[in-house]
Amino acid sequence: MPANPQLDAQGRLRHLLSIEGLPRETIERILATAESFAGVTERDIKKVPLLRGKSVFNLFFEPSTRTRTTFEIAAKRLSADVINLNIALSSQTKGESLLDTVANLSAMQADIFVVRHASSGAPYLIARHVKPHEHVINAGDGRHAHPTQGLLDLYTIRHYKKDFASLTVAIVGDIAHSRVARSLIHGLNTLGAREVRVIGPQTLIPTGVEALGVRVFHDLRAGLREADVIVMLRLQNERMSGALLPSAQEYFMSYGLTPERLALAKPDAIVMHPGPMNRGVEIDSAVADGPHSVILPQVTFGIAVRMAVMSIVAGGA
Ligand code: CP
Repeated sequence: MPANPQLDAQGRLRHLLSIEGLPRETIERILATAESFAGVTERDIKKVPLLRGKSVFNLFFEPSTRTRTTFEIAAKRLSADVINLNIALSSQTKGESLLDTVANLSAMQADIFVVRHASSGAPYLIARHVKPHEHVINAGDGRHAHPTQGLLDLYTIRHYKKDFASLTVAIVGDIAHSRVARSLIHGLNTLGAREVRVIGPQTLIPTGVEALGVRVFHDLRAGLREADVIVMLRLQNERMSGALLPSAQEYFMSYGLTPERLALAKPDAIVMHPGPMNRGVEIDSAVADGPHSVILPQVTFGIAVRMAVMSIVAGGA
């Protein structure tokens, strides 16, 4: 396995495991390819034949609404065959190991594995064991990375704001447990965003996070001031060990995005959220459904971005 396990010996993207370490030109190629697919998703016939005859296996060991569904739509729009493994009904429940499951699916002629797993590193483990013609795409591993979410976030920001070099991006909430935040921070820094801020209580901001190239704020009002882009995050209770916050209500009092707090950002600021959203905990409904919100367009852009990633790793684009 080379130093960057995502790239082959020629520097081409073979697997997508993390945004960290991806060259700027690779990120830009994915975004440009996604833009070309955005038109496909608006046609009457929303299909291109790039992955005809290929099989995409969706392996979601954790719940998902947006990622799993948009990967399925994206694969179908590329004319691939899609197999959604139902983990709850699979032989994982009888003690089969992750690698044995993957080996058996590989024996069914898989081409792409899309993997979500609660354990950080699970997609890397699979990538080390697949056959040379097979590709692995990380659909979220533990608190480590969610690269296609990061890419669709970058796509959304570029769609509305064009030039990263002039942007201040504020990421608010549970940074400590967020694979979305980590992936987006790496992407924003690689594309040259002017300033990336992380905002949250001390218990939800990892020590030393500044090393990722971000400015830390514990005061929401100060952190939102003059921001161009605000990314709200859910409290990821499923990854917290012990109580890190007094209560959801008190969290909202200090860190919930309300119309009054949004008014501290630039007048044309956009509000993003990867979902699932908890209204009244991290975001007020008036903001989630308001004119600054681009939360649902993010989901739509995710289809084109996932089409781009699958077609690039499989050599179709
Ligand atoms: N953003 C995201 O990963 O959502 P899902 O968990 O619904 O896939």
